[in-house]
Amino acid sequence: MKVIIINGPNLNLLGKREPSVYGNETFDAYFKKLERNFPQVDLTYFQSNIEGEIIDKIHETGFSFDGIILNAAAYTHTSVGIADAVKGVETPVVEVHISNVYERESYRHKSYIAPNVRGIITGFGLLSYELALRSFFD
Ligand code: DQA
Repeated sequence: MKVIIINGPNLNLLGKREPSVYGNETFDAYFKKLERNFPQVDLTYFQSNIEGEIIDKIHETGFSFDGIILNAAAYTHTSVGIADAVKGVETPVVEVHISNVYERESYRHKSYIAPNVRGIITGFGLLSYELALRSFFD
């Protein structure tokens, strides 16, 4: 099974960025644990702060991978382009957020991506990614 995790803007700063909201762990350290714990999954990781690069990666993987785990970060709340990319591909997408976006500012309550994803996991810290990954198992 081939699954890609796509992280959007500012998530390269995990571990340093607002630790009270996003925790102390870097995504690289967390990703290594995921790879160790799910050896049966062919896992890929991609992060970009650039909207078009995220769209390109969805196109690139969206017809050949078995799953996309997408934390579009701030673009979740703004990007029609990423929403259209998710709608346009065949691979199922699970939307993930580290924080519980519904207990935060109201502008984080709107997701342009949500109508076209298989499901949404929000608020479980980095565990949100593992829960999303498990959702692809039969
Ligand atoms: C986030 C929530 C977004 O509102 C925010 O812009 C992020 C991260 C999360 O994982 O909790 O950058 O997607």
